Amino acid sequence: MKLSFLATFASLVLDTSSKPTRRDFGLVGFGKDNPFGPTIGGSGGETVTVTSPAALVSALADNTPRTVIAEGRFNLTTRLQVGSNKSLIGSGKGAEISGKGITVADKTNVIIRNLGIRFILNHDGITIQNSTRVWIDHNEFESDITHGPDYYDGQCDIVRASDWITVSWNYFHDHWKSSLLGNSDAIRDVDTGHLHITYHHNYWRNEGTRGPAGRFGHQHVFNNLYEDYHYQAIHSRSDNQVLVEGNVFRGNTTEALSTYGLVIPDDSPNTSPDGDYEIDGFANLGATNDWGPATINITQVGNFTKAPYEYELTSLDSVEQVVKAGAGLGRI
Ligand SMILES: *[C@@H]1O[C@H](CO)[C@@H](O)[C@H](O)[C@H]1NC(C)=O
Ligand SMILES: *[C@@H]1O[C@H](CO)[C@@H](O)[C@H](O)[C@H]1NC(C)=O
Ligand SMILES: *[C@@H]1O[C@H](CO)[C@@H](O)[C@H](O)[C@H]1NC(C)=O
Ligand SMILES: *[C@@H]1O[C@H](CO)[C@@H](O)[C@H](O)[C@H]1NC(C)=O
Ligand SMILES: *[C@@H]1O[C@H](CO)[C@@H](O)[C@H](O)[C@H]1NC(C)=O
Ligand SMILES: *[C@@H]1O[C@H](CO)[C@@H](O)[C@H](O)[C@H]1NC(C)=O
Repeated sequence: MKLSFLATFASLVLDTSSKPTRRDFGLVGFGKDNPFGPTIGGSGGETVTVTSPAALVSALADNTPRTVIAEGRFNLTTRLQVGSNKSLIGSGKGAEISGKGITVADKTNVIIRNLGIRFILNHDGITIQNSTRVWIDHNEFESDITHGPDYYDGQCDIVRASDWITVSWNYFHDHWKSSLLGNSDAIRDVDTGHLHITYHHNYWRNEGTRGPAGRFGHQHVFNNLYEDYHYQAIHSRSDNQVLVEGNVFRGNTTEALSTYGLVIPDDSPNTSPDGDYEIDGFANLGATNDWGPATINITQVGNFTKAPYEYELTSLDSVEQVVKAGAGLGRI
């Protein structure tokens, strides 16, 4: 009794003298506060545990509310289609997805957490298309940059009028083109007014471009850690608006933020060796960022000056430690 009381007391004292050891990993941002209500995934429905690709595919196929706990390794032969009203959660230290990635298309209310999504070829790790209310949290995305920019596709691409999404506490590493929002000029009118996405407390390491690259939408990018982001981290182009605050840039990171429309040659040299010209985007800076060694190029200041919801900023000097300790698998 006395011992455990003392232990509790000691840890409380430690907490106040250093940093909080327990984090609130609850949903924050556009995935929570939006006109349609918070993303709740499968809550209220049954919970099932699956251990084979076939069982995983079938548990996610319909739109019935369901929490699907994925346990083990899933080497998929077709893309995993996630239905509406689903929570897909990796068990324990995380479930592994390889072979094919995950698609959320024409759906609403989807949560994906604690999955290791690795070396996906010919398509994105996760594609969110024409879907609303999605929370991508505490996953790990991994491939390599040695094969060049066009060998793999995106890690988490969000397109076709998708909206009200939060991407939080993910570990994105060893990949070229991370996260593209809005993928085609031909559907500018479809995307415009959508793509409200919050990116917070993600850890990006050894990446090339698109952390994220936004077009036509609004993104709030706060408290992320970028380490060795080689070419260009945050890109806002084609009338996109970003609110960028409390982020930390480290290592060999070249350009932290740009609104200059040019899609740099390093973003897609195989298809466009000289780069592609698009019109510029907009950026606003909120709480101070630590740009580290990186440059910024803000050609147009926008009007996305304040996020329309409550959120707690991590203090700038603890972002690096908090994100490294909290992002990725086995934390929830
Ligand atoms: C997945 O299956 C394919 C085809 O059988 C195989 O080539 C690949 O090595 C497997 N990947 C993993 C990670 O097991
Ligand atoms: C599940 O999702 C669909 C959209 O695909 C929605 O219309 C429906 O109301 C949801 N069902 C429940 C029980 O929440
Ligand atoms: C988008 O998804 C909705 C279902 O949520 C569907 O009714 C609509 O046809 C889809 N739009 C396109 C362009 O695919
Ligand atoms: C930084 O990254 C760029 C792009 O990958 C590379 O050309 C350069 O050599 C790197 N610099 C250092 C000091 O590692
Ligand atoms: C910054 O943007 C301007 C256009 O306003 C462009 O001329 C310049 O090359 C950009 N700088 C870099 C380093 O890309
Ligand atoms: C914000 O700026 C964009 C681009 O100039 C403009 O189209 C939009 O109407 C502005 N929004 C508001 C609320 O002023």
